[in-house]
Amino acid sequence: MAKVVVENVYKSYSRREGEENFTPVATESLVASSSQLSSTQTKSSSKSSPQVNVLRNINFTVDDGEFMVLVGPSGCGKSTLLRIIAGLEELTAGNIWIGKSLVNDLPPKARDIAMVFQNYALYPHLKVYDNIAFGLRRTSSQKGRTGEGGQKNNSKMISKWLEKLLVSATRSLPRNFRYLSATEKEIDRQIKSVASLLQIETLLHRLPKELSGGQKQRVALGRAIARNPQVFLMDEPLSNLDAKLRADTRAQIVKLQRQLGTTTIYVTHDQTEAMTMGDRIAVMNQGKIQQIAPPLEIYHQPANRFVAEFIGSPPMNFLPVEWVAPLTLKHPQFSLTLPPHWSQPLQAYQGRSLLLGVRPQHFYLSDASQENFRAIIDLVEALGNETYISVHLAEDINCNLQIRIPTEQFVCTGKSINVSIDVNKIHLFVGDSGESILLNS
Ligand SMILES: Nc1ncnc2c1ncn2[C@@H]1O[C@H](COP(=O)(O)OP(=O)(O)O)[C@@H](O)[C@H]1O
Ligand SMILES: [Mg+2]
Repeated sequence: MAKVVVENVYKSYSRREGEENFTPVATESLVASSSQLSSTQTKSSSKSSPQVNVLRNINFTVDDGEFMVLVGPSGCGKSTLLRIIAGLEELTAGNIWIGKSLVNDLPPKARDIAMVFQNYALYPHLKVYDNIAFGLRRTSSQKGRTGEGGQKNNSKMISKWLEKLLVSATRSLPRNFRYLSATEKEIDRQIKSVASLLQIETLLHRLPKELSGGQKQRVALGRAIARNPQVFLMDEPLSNLDAKLRADTRAQIVKLQRQLGTTTIYVTHDQTEAMTMGDRIAVMNQGKIQQIAPPLEIYHQPANRFVAEFIGSPPMNFLPVEWVAPLTLKHPQFSLTLPPHWSQPLQAYQGRSLLLGVRPQHFYLSDASQENFRAIIDLVEALGNETYISVHLAEDINCNLQIRIPTEQFVCTGKSINVSIDVNKIHLFVGDSGESILLNS
C-alpha cells in the first residue's frame, strides 16, 4: 500500500491536420507557464503542431488505503489520467509519485500497480485459474531473475530450470497429477484465497467464453487482487454489466477494498458510483479538477455550477435571478425571500446576475396563498417510491424544471400547479463564472 501523488500534471496531444473541431477543450497554448515547468519535466512533442490540452494542471493526493473516485463526463480526461498513473501513457509535464518513488520514467510493471479495465482483458485461451495465475507467475519469475545470480548459484539455477520443466510438462494434466514447485504452491494458495473472496471457486476451470459478464469482471478483479499491488487502478470496470449486477459488484468492490486496504483510484462517469464508492470524489471537467471532497460535501457544498449539476440525480435546476438587498431574489416570474444568513455573503454580488440552484426534492406543491410560481406539468414519471414531474413555468414556456413530489400526490400532464421553493435548501452561483456563493458556516 502506498499513497499516490499527482503533481502539476499536464497532457497534450498534437492535433493532426483536418482535426479543427477535435479538441474537447479550448485550444489554448499549454496552460503551464514556463516558470511552472522545468525543462527536464517538459517532454513536449513537435513544436509547430497545435496542441490539444487533455489534462491541465492536475494536482491531488490519494492517501494510503484511500478509495478515490475520479468522476466526470465522457471525454474529460479520466482514462488519460489513469493511464498516466499506470505508466501506459507519457505525461507532458508534472510528476507522479507512488509511495516514496517518483515513477515518471518507470514502466508499468515496475510501478507495483494493478489495473482493471471496462473490457475485462482476460486471455481467451487460458482458464480462469491460469488467467489469475498469469501475473503471479510473471512477477515471481522476475523476482527469481533479479534476486539470484553468480556461479555458486549454478546448481540452484539448474534445479529451478528442472522444476520449471516439470511444471510446464505436467500443467495440462488433471490438478492432482501436476508437479507443483514451491512457487506454484504459493501461487495456488493465493489464487484459492482470492477465488474464495470473490466467490469464483467453481469457475476456476472454465474458459472466459464460458463466463457471464459479471463473472468475467470478477475474474479480472481477482487477477488484480491476487497480485497484491500497492495500488489498484480501475477504469469504468462495471460499465458492461446490467444494472442489478452493477449495484451488486459495486458493493462487493467497496467491501473488498476495505478488507484489503489497498489504495484505489476508480474512474467512472456515473455519479451514483462516485457517491456510493469513494472515500473522496474528484470531479473532473474538460481536463481540470473541479472539486475534491467526500461525497456528501460535494453534494451539499458544490464548488461550482458544473459540480452541482453533475452530482445528484435528477440534476439540480437552475433559474436566473438577481439579488435585491437585503434578502430578495428576483426572477422575472417570481420573487423569493431568503433567510437572514444570506445577506452577508451576498453583499459582494450587488447588481450581478446570479443563478438560483434548487434540487428536485426542494420544491413543493403548495396552495395558492404560498406559491412562488405557477407551473404546467409536461410529464409525470411515477417510479413507485417517488414521483418526478417535469414542468414549465406558466408564464415562461422555456423555463423547464424537474420536481420531486410525494407519491400519494395526484398529478397529471397538463395540470396547472402552485410551486414553492424551500428557501433553506437553495444554492446560489455567480451567473458568469458559475462559482458557488458559499454561506459562512
Ligand atoms: N491518443 C490520443 N490522441 C489524441 N487525443 C486523444 C488520445 N487519447 C485520448 N484523446 C482525447 O483526450 C480526451 C480525453 O480522453 P479520455 O481520457 O479517454 O476521456 P474519458 O476517459 O474521460 O472519457 C478525449 O477528447 C480524447 O479524444
Ligand atoms: Mg475513459
